[in-house]
Amino acid sequence: MQAYRASLLRFDAAGQPVFDTDGLLVVGPDAAGRQRVLDAGDFGTVSARHPGLAVTHWPGRVLAPGFVDMHIHYPQTDIIGAPSEGLLPWLENYTFPAEARFADPAHSAEVAEFFLDELMRNGVTTALTFATSHPQSVEAFFEASKRRQLRMITGKVLQDRHSPDGVRDRTEQSLTDTEALIRRWHGVDRLGYAITPRFAPTSTDAQLRGAGELAAAYPDTWIHSHVAENKDEVKWARELFPKARSYLDVYLGFGLMRERAVYAHCIHFDDDDRRLMRDTGAATAVSPTSNLFLGSGFFDFEGAERIGYRHGLASDVGGGTSFSPFSTMLAAYYVGREGQTKPGVSIAPSQLWWQHTGGAAHALGLEGVIGNLQPGCEADFLVLNPKATPLLARKTALAGNLEELLFAMIVLGDDRLVERTVVSQAV
Ligand code: GUN
Ligand code: ZN
Repeated sequence: MQAYRASLLRFDAAGQPVFDTDGLLVVGPDAAGRQRVLDAGDFGTVSARHPGLAVTHWPGRVLAPGFVDMHIHYPQTDIIGAPSEGLLPWLENYTFPAEARFADPAHSAEVAEFFLDELMRNGVTTALTFATSHPQSVEAFFEASKRRQLRMITGKVLQDRHSPDGVRDRTEQSLTDTEALIRRWHGVDRLGYAITPRFAPTSTDAQLRGAGELAAAYPDTWIHSHVAENKDEVKWARELFPKARSYLDVYLGFGLMRERAVYAHCIHFDDDDRRLMRDTGAATAVSPTSNLFLGSGFFDFEGAERIGYRHGLASDVGGGTSFSPFSTMLAAYYVGREGQTKPGVSIAPSQLWWQHTGGAAHALGLEGVIGNLQPGCEADFLVLNPKATPLLARKTALAGNLEELLFAMIVLGDDRLVERTVVSQAV
C-alpha cells in the first residue's frame, strides 16, 4: 500500500468536482494484483483510517486523474500541423502517404514508442487511437502498451475503397484480420480492441456489414469511426448512401451504433442524429483543436447537453494540433462559446476537466475504471505542479476558488505542468 499527500481532485457520481486542499490518496493492489485507489479524501480523515501508513508528501502539488483521450491517431504523429484547405485534401496529401509507411513493423514500433512517451509527458493515461489498415501497426501498438501496462484501445483501420494503394485493404481479408486481432488482444491485461471503419465513404457495404457483424459477435469491443466532420465529406457520404436518412444513419443501418461505439466530430448533426446517439448509447469524441485547424466547424455542446448523449474530449492528432489535454480543454472552451444561447462563460472549467477524465471514461463505458480517483478506480494519476512556470505560479497563487485554479491550469498549462504520470501496475 502507498499513500500520497497533496491536494486531490476527484469527481462525484454527477461529474461535479470534489477537491481536498490537503488530501490523501491511498493506492494498493486488488485481488488480481492490479493497483487501484483504496481510499481518498481529506488527509486528517483518511490517514486516521490507516494508522501507521507511510506517506509520501508532495507539498504544493495537485493529484488528478490521468486524462482520457477519446480519439487520436498514433500513426499521424508526424503530420501534426500539416496545413490544408480541408479534410479531404488533407487526407489525400498528407494522411494516406504517412499511414502507408506503417506497412513496416519497425516504423510502427518506433512511432508507437514515441507516441506513448508523448501521451505520458502530457498526462494522458488512456487513449482510443486509430492504427492504420496494416495489422502490424496494431501489433506494434499493443506490444508497446502492454510493456508499459497501460489501458489503451486501438484497432486495424478498415478502408477497402476510395483509398490509394498502400492503405487500401481487401474486404474479406480485412474482416479476417480484424477478428484475429480481437481474439489475440482484446482483454489482454488492460488492452481493448476497437473495430475501426475509417469512415463510411472509404468502406464498401460489404465491409461495413462485416464490421457490424463483428461488433455484434464481440459486444464488449469498441467501434471507432468518424462522422459529420466536414461539409464536403457529408455531401459525399449522402451521395454514396442515398437511402440513409443522414450520414449517421448509415452506421445504424450496418449495426454500428451501440454502447462503446465512438464517433469523432459529430458536427453537422440535426436533433434526430443527436437522439440516435442517445438512444443507442453511442458517444461523440469532440475534437476541438482539429475542428478549428481543419476548418471543419464547431461542435454543438448545448445540443449534446439538451438531448443528453455521451460525449467527451479528444485531441484527434494529427488533425488536432496538440497532445496536451490543456490545449484541448481550452479549445473546447472557445468552441463552447460559439452559438451559445445560455447565459454564462461557455463551459465551466471543472466540466471541461470532467469531459477529459471521468466524463470521457463514462462515454467509453469505463466509468469507475479510469478517469477518476474514487476508491475502486485503477491508479492512473498525475502529479501536477501549479508553479511549473513563473506565470503559472503567479496566476494559480491568485486563484480564489477551485474553478479559478482549474481555469488557470487550462489556459496556461502544457506538459511542464505534468510533473509525474503514474500508471497503475500489476504487482
Ligand atoms: N475522416 C476520415 N479519416 C480521417 C482522419 O484520419 N482524420 C480526421 N480528422 N477525419 C477523418
Ligand atoms: Zn480522427
